[in-house]
Order: sequence, then C-alpha cells, then structure tokens
Amino acid sequence: MSFKNKVVIVTGASSGIGASASIMFSKEGARVVMVGRNETKLSAVAAKCSSPLVIRADIANDDDARSIINQTIKKFGQIDILVNNAGMTMENGGILANDMMKSYDTIMNINLRAAVHLTNLAAPYLIKTKGNIVNISSIAGIMPPFGVGMTNYYISKAALNHFTVCCATELAPHGVRVNVLSPGPVRTDFMDNAKAAFTWDDFPSKTLLNRVSEPEEIADMILYLASDKAKSVTGSNYVNDNGMLIKKT
Ligand SMILES: NC(=O)c1ccc[n+]([C@@H]2O[C@H](COP(=O)([O-])OP(=O)(O)OC[C@H]3O[C@@H](n4cnc5c(N)ncnc54)[C@H](OP(=O)(O)O)[C@@H]3O)[C@@H](O)[C@H]2O)c1
Repeated sequence: MSFKNKVVIVTGASSGIGASASIMFSKEGARVVMVGRNETKLSAVAAKCSSPLVIRADIANDDDARSIINQTIKKFGQIDILVNNAGMTMENGGILANDMMKSYDTIMNINLRAAVHLTNLAAPYLIKTKGNIVNISSIAGIMPPFGVGMTNYYISKAALNHFTVCCATELAPHGVRVNVLSPGPVRTDFMDNAKAAFTWDDFPSKTLLNRVSEPEEIADMILYLASDKAKSVTGSNYVNDNGMLIKKT
C-alpha cells in the first residue's frame, strides 16, 4: 500500500495505536502530521518516522484544533487522510458516580467533540483531495459494558460510530469516504492512563481467540481503510477484537 506524498493527520500519535499508525504511514511514504500532548513520547515516535510534522496540541482545545489544521496546510498545502484516533477514559464515568458530569465533559470533549471539530475543519481540504477519514472507536460503542462505571466512555464511542455514518452520508457526494474501526483489547498505555483497576491480562479469556492485540494489528487495518484498496468502503464499522463481541461466556 503506497501513501507516497499523501498528507496524513494522526491524532494520539504519541502512543499505542496512533504511534503504530504514524510509523506505518511514514514507512509507506506518507507525510505524517503527528498530534499529541506528551512531548517525550511524541519525540520517541517521531524518531521512527521520516520528517513528520509534530504538533503538540490538546485536541479538546478549539484553538489547538484550528492550529493543527492551519499548521498542516501551511507546511504541506493539503490533507488526504484524517485519523481521529486520540481517546481516553477515566474513573467516575458511571451513572452512580458523584461527579459524573466532570468525567462526561472530559471524555466527550476528547473522544467525540474533538473528532467532530477536526473533521469539520479538515473537510474542505479532504474534499479537494478526495481523501478519507478513519475514526478509532471501540467495541465499547457496540456492546453492553462489563460491570459499572464506564458509561461515559461507552456512549462516547457509540456516538462516534453514528457520527461516522452521518459524515459518510454528507461527504460521499464530494468523493470523501469516512469509516470507523472498533478495536477490542489492544496492549497500549490506555489502561495505565485511565488508572484502571484491571490489566491486559484480564482480557484474553474474554475473547474467542484468547489473546489481546498489538497496536500494529489495528494500524494495519487503519492503513487498509485509508487506502485505495478500500475505495468501495464508506460508513462501515470494522471490528478487530479477537472475537470478543461474539464470545458468549
Ligand atoms: N487499547 C485498547 O484496548 C483500545 C480498545 C478499543 C479502542 N481503543 C481506542 O484507541 C484509541 C487509541 O488508544 P490507545 O489504546 O492507543 O491508548 P494510549 O496508548 O493511551 O494513546 C492515547 C493517545 O491519545 C492521545 N490523547 C488523549 N487525549 C488527548 C488530547 N486531549 N489531545 C491530544 N491527544 C490526546 C494521547 O496523547 P498524549 O498522551 O500525548 O496526550 C495518546 O497519544 C483511543 O481512541 C481508544 O479509545 C483502544
């Protein structure tokens, strides 16, 4: 899959799935715009990419979001692919939490609102290149939750799924494809960042294939969806979860 000279914005490029996708796009000749907040992590990933544009930004901040698009256009003059990958979860995300709305605002601002905003800002440029968008959701957007306390995360991903369908509908007449990818458990820093009570070792037994994915497996699918090989694919939700969604017990 060649992405020679394609300009690809990857949010959450400093870690996990976004880091892998940035490195892979770069290997395939893309000019990668890496977005994240952690400078040390961004630098470590950038060292594995060929001349990326590294933008330290909080995607939930509207000025930062505008700056991501402006800096990209200033440097490269075009946008071919937008990967809305940055995402997080945190404690107190359940309906019985004392301060649920604090977590709600943080999670929705990053997982949903920022993706909507960046898409809105990038759309005119994507229309010019007949480009495409890959949103990174989660099987959490489809399945009922395990236990309690994660409602905010689950609804943020369900909304991202439907946003994808709406966007695909609006942008198809302009030649722009929009898809969403729903990973199951993937070994990244996600759990540590969430200060979760469980670890990746708790997940293999919840999947049919008895395993947790590596970030590269998800990045492979991102590149496929972003490539011309997927030219007939839009508004689709691609699940990559080791069979977790359909495991009965
Ligand atoms: N790992 C899994 O099991 C799994 C499963 C299903 C779906 N997902 C989804 O996959 C995506 C990537 O997660 P991951 O597993 O790779 O987790 P990760 O290793 O924690 O990476 C998350 C990335 O998002 C970035 N980010 C978070 N908030 C941001 C903000 N406000 N502004 C800019 N960047 C921000 C982080 O950058 P900084 O730290 O530099 O700010 C980091 O690069 C997320 O949307 C997640 O919901 C993950």
